Amino acid sequence: MKIPMPEISLDEQLKKMQRDWDERARENARYYVATGKNDWTDDEFFQSGERTVAEEILTDMINICQGKDPKQMKVLEIGCGAGRVTRALAGVFGEVHAVDVSGEMVERAKTALADRPNAFVYRNNGKDLSVIPGEGYDFAFSTIVFQHIPSREVIYSYVREVRRLLRPGALFKFQVQGDSSMKTAPDDTWLGIAFSDQEAVVMAEACGFEPRHRHGAGEQYFWLWFFRA
Ligand SMILES: C[S@@+](CC[C@H](N)C(=O)[O-])C[C@H]1O[C@@H](n2cnc3c(N)ncnc32)[C@H](O)[C@@H]1O
Repeated sequence: MKIPMPEISLDEQLKKMQRDWDERARENARYYVATGKNDWTDDEFFQSGERTVAEEILTDMINICQGKDPKQMKVLEIGCGAGRVTRALAGVFGEVHAVDVSGEMVERAKTALADRPNAFVYRNNGKDLSVIPGEGYDFAFSTIVFQHIPSREVIYSYVREVRRLLRPGALFKFQVQGDSSMKTAPDDTWLGIAFSDQEAVVMAEACGFEPRHRHGAGEQYFWLWFFRA
């Protein structure tokens, strides 16, 4: 028997994302951001963000910086949560501009970044980057965010928005859900929609990127390196 999917408009879906992530932030923001622990200390939480940057950014500076001094680079982050990775990004790059759909998460990120004047955090509408000032950004990053987005339309919207804000040739390095055995529903704000390798390539090309590298197809952490055409 086929299980009927709940009908939900994009607007309702975005409101639900905001509501659910606000609730998660109020309940235990750091646990829902990184479920490895439910009682993170400040040090442990921000060190885990430093580790993400050490593993995913500092090992990949050729693709990310393309010869530019990182301190001269303006970077974007989608889904910053409580500022775990944003804080570490602000230690490496000249300016970091980060968005999150949850106002509660944004409040926590702002507190975490109070001593980082080069980090800017905005609450957005869950689908575009109209809150971000200017353009000509040098790099964009997102980790463990699109795995929570149940809508292909929203993910495509972000990829197109990142293209609008990046300078030509710049990299958008991000993750999507690659495991298609994990079934989402339109009102599920925890389990995101999965992309096959081919679907990732189609998305890159439809949104004006070259999908130069991909790692982890079929897995929960499917990393994509999209270079802006
Ligand atoms: C698991 S947390 C990860 C946070 C951060 N990237 C990190 O690694 O520490 C996922 C974050 O994505 C945000 N998020 C979920 N859906 C979003 C959307 N449609 N637009 C922007 N942010 C979203 C949530 O509010 C939450 O803060």
